Amino acid sequence: MPALVLVGAQWGDEGKGKATDLLGGSVDYVVRYQGGNNAGHTVVVGDQKYALHLLPSGILSPNCVPVIGNGVVIDPAVLLSELAGLQDRGVDTSKLLISGNAHLITPYHRTMDKVSERFLGKRKIGTTGRGIGPSYADKINRIGIRVQDLFDESILRQKVEAALNDKNQILVKLYNRRAMPAELVVEEYLGYADKLRPFVADTALLLNQALEDGKVVLMEGGQGTLLDVDHGTYPFVTSSNPTSGGACTGTGIGPTKIDRVIGILKAYTTRVGSGPFPTELFDEDGEALRRIGGERGVTTGRDRRCGWFDAPIARYATRINGLTDIFLTKLDVLTGWEQIPVCVAYDVDGTRVDEVPHSQSDFHHAKPIYEMLPGWSEDITKAQTFEDLPKNAQDYVKALEELSRCRISAIGVGPGRTETIQVHSLL
Ligand code: GDP
Ligand code: IMO
Ligand code: MG
Repeated sequence: MPALVLVGAQWGDEGKGKATDLLGGSVDYVVRYQGGNNAGHTVVVGDQKYALHLLPSGILSPNCVPVIGNGVVIDPAVLLSELAGLQDRGVDTSKLLISGNAHLITPYHRTMDKVSERFLGKRKIGTTGRGIGPSYADKINRIGIRVQDLFDESILRQKVEAALNDKNQILVKLYNRRAMPAELVVEEYLGYADKLRPFVADTALLLNQALEDGKVVLMEGGQGTLLDVDHGTYPFVTSSNPTSGGACTGTGIGPTKIDRVIGILKAYTTRVGSGPFPTELFDEDGEALRRIGGERGVTTGRDRRCGWFDAPIARYATRINGLTDIFLTKLDVLTGWEQIPVCVAYDVDGTRVDEVPHSQSDFHHAKPIYEMLPGWSEDITKAQTFEDLPKNAQDYVKALEELSRCRISAIGVGPGRTETIQVHSLL
């Protein structure tokens, strides 16, 4: 009955889509457990490239059931257009299951996201503008709209009216925007009901039954550990729990059922949006990482901020998620540097600090302390085994393994499914 969780170990975009797709052929269910269409997961299959935002990457594996769990926030228009896009490319989407308890993103959430960012000015979070935070805020405030509400018109109307009661006051009086008529939202959302109905299920029940029947369930996180609303670089975070605990609440699978927690870790570091990033580079090395790594956002098209590997962050991810394995991605991007700096600790106002500082101000002041590791120049994209890697690349991986305090079980040497070195089995 293996249940596996796959989490981003840094600030997102570590290559979760590729890792999920790689495992997709061997698992029965792939479940997204949090976030929404702020995610952008790239999957490369042969010469085909897919960008998934809301759908679990398992949708591309023919024998796998893709599931959107209760912890996800769903923008129905985005979901339907993503499904249509995949159907046009010949992907079978009929097996999709959606939790009736998942919350919906509505037009007023998208508006609130954009205007509140504008009002934050210099302190803005740099959100994806998809309405994620406001939708989760309504969920916690108990004024959210759930998928199951689409199937009861009078409940839907009552709930939308209640949610817009105060929001319209805020939109008009504080943000100088037009009020949003509840009826417009109700009409639009009733139009989604019949389209979504065939997919809606009690996913928590089905997933637990599947585990009892010996099926393999993979829970695919969006975002990453440092974007977690509880454990990330608050307030520069997303509004959900991408860390492994979120997999339990976001699917209804209990912690005792989980066998493996796989952290997806880039061989260097990137971040999109605002917030602290100790190893960020502002020089030609940063530019080179961005260019060679293709570090441009899948969702918003923004350039990603790039920097060297940060070991305290990797250790933090190991700890917070209880990682059992690491999937190290994008090692190939580091080919060509004579020496590769790796951040092993921070200097915080003159004091050496080995772990991610607990205080936000200290983290904002953290300066990386680097150790230089010898680089390699050989092309590694064809490497199939650990021994195929040049000695310096092997040593780089071993150093990261030791610094991260978790074994590295797979290594990505290119974007494609097959461009992966399996060191230990992930299943
Ligand atoms: P996700 O959000 O975690 O799924 O990651 P993204 O898809 O946003 O960004 C990861 C990018 O790196 C995508 O363009 C992937 O195709 C690519 N990628 C993943 N693994 C590797 C790897 O090992 N090597 C290289 N060169 N690219 C990779
Ligand atoms: P994947 O799943 C990288 C960032 C945004 C912003 C912050 C809050 O592809 O790894 P939000 O719209 O969620 O309220 O924005 O979180 N962010 C991501 N950064 N990868 C992602 O997803 C992200 N999803 C959100 O840039 O800084
Ligand atoms: Mg991404």
